[in-house]
Amino acid sequence: MKVLLTGSEGYIGAVMRDVLLNAGHAVTGLDTGFFKECDFGDAPTAIPVLVRDVRSVSESDFEGFDAVIHLAALSNDPLGNLEPGLTEEINTQGSIRVAEMAKAAGVRRFLFASSCSLYGQGEALGLTEEATPNPQTPYAHSKIDFERALHALADDSFSPTYMRNATAFGVSPRLRFDIVVNNLCGCAWTTGKIGMTSDGSPWRPLVHVQDISRAFLLALEAPRDVIHDEAFNIGSTANNIQIRDIAYKVQAQMPECEVTFGNSDGDTRTYNVDFTKIETRLPGWNTTGYSIDRSITEFLEAFEQLQTKDEDFKGRLYTRLRQIEHLQSSGLIDSQLYWSKA
Ligand SMILES: NC(=O)c1ccc[n+]([C@@H]2O[C@H](COP(=O)([O-])OP(=O)(O)OC[C@H]3O[C@@H](n4cnc5c(N)ncnc54)[C@H](O)[C@@H]3O)[C@@H](O)[C@H]2O)c1
Repeated sequence: MKVLLTGSEGYIGAVMRDVLLNAGHAVTGLDTGFFKECDFGDAPTAIPVLVRDVRSVSESDFEGFDAVIHLAALSNDPLGNLEPGLTEEINTQGSIRVAEMAKAAGVRRFLFASSCSLYGQGEALGLTEEATPNPQTPYAHSKIDFERALHALADDSFSPTYMRNATAFGVSPRLRFDIVVNNLCGCAWTTGKIGMTSDGSPWRPLVHVQDISRAFLLALEAPRDVIHDEAFNIGSTANNIQIRDIAYKVQAQMPECEVTFGNSDGDTRTYNVDFTKIETRLPGWNTTGYSIDRSITEFLEAFEQLQTKDEDFKGRLYTRLRQIEHLQSSGLIDSQLYWSKA
């Protein structure tokens, strides 16, 4: 298939492109390029990229594509709090523009990178796709708001799928240290300790970035009736874990690393998610190859090879908010995150 991959230049996109290419799909990226200089090790595999802001895409950008995989977004809660309204403008309104233009151009499949964070503070363990969303942040609100807008566009010619990803982990050529497993690995490697301000009790569902990529591939190739207007939680029951247990897993591979906890810091986000639907309905799905333990090993090997240092861990390249703030303070992008005219 001819696939347009928005957000191609980010953490997940840099991995997903290879999974799609290796399966024989033709991949074109679309991205504004906030993190194009943020390589971790080798650069991602080269693909053609349309340099666009999702807020100003046009129908012609989507002509000739069979499917759109939509990853482009302000991708976490700290970014969501950057400037009031920006997350809504980019993640909700910009995404609606992407979907409307794609549909108008005749694109038949639209896979949206939604998030399990829309479940917010779960009232029960084992939240299914039927659970009532309880978003706690502008970011989580943007995900459920766009899912609803996308649902309104579903018809015989246009099949949206809501891929509710667990929190990603794992090495990528566009690494992020601002997600939990990656952060704890980087922290342990560069400082020799993991000092948590919280008590580590919140639940998080986690999924390896390779598995997210494979889930999108499977949904792309699945029969239409399996994916049409359907939500899937993307992850595995085995990787529903309390944050303190991630710290202990890191410590198990770095025994000299000290782990300490504080009192709960008021983070109300805790959710434990059920993955039965993807496990039973999406042919070919399993995540057994990419455990958290294996990923910690993968990180330690990468840190050793790349001689990762404290300044890499704390610097701007691998923390999305810091890179955006750097682009703004350098005058490269404005307060609305548009590139400044040269
Ligand atoms: N990483 C996770 O743990 C996780 C979990 C659940 C859902 N998701 C979703 O998956 C998607 C990808 O996440 P990621 O971790 O790769 O994030 P990322 O920040 O690494 O990548 C996002 C990409 O979107 C691009 N982008 C941002 N605003 C844009 C705009 N206005 N126009 C065009 N491009 C724009 C950025 O330049 C970047 O390359 C996001 O939608 C995110 O919300 C991620």
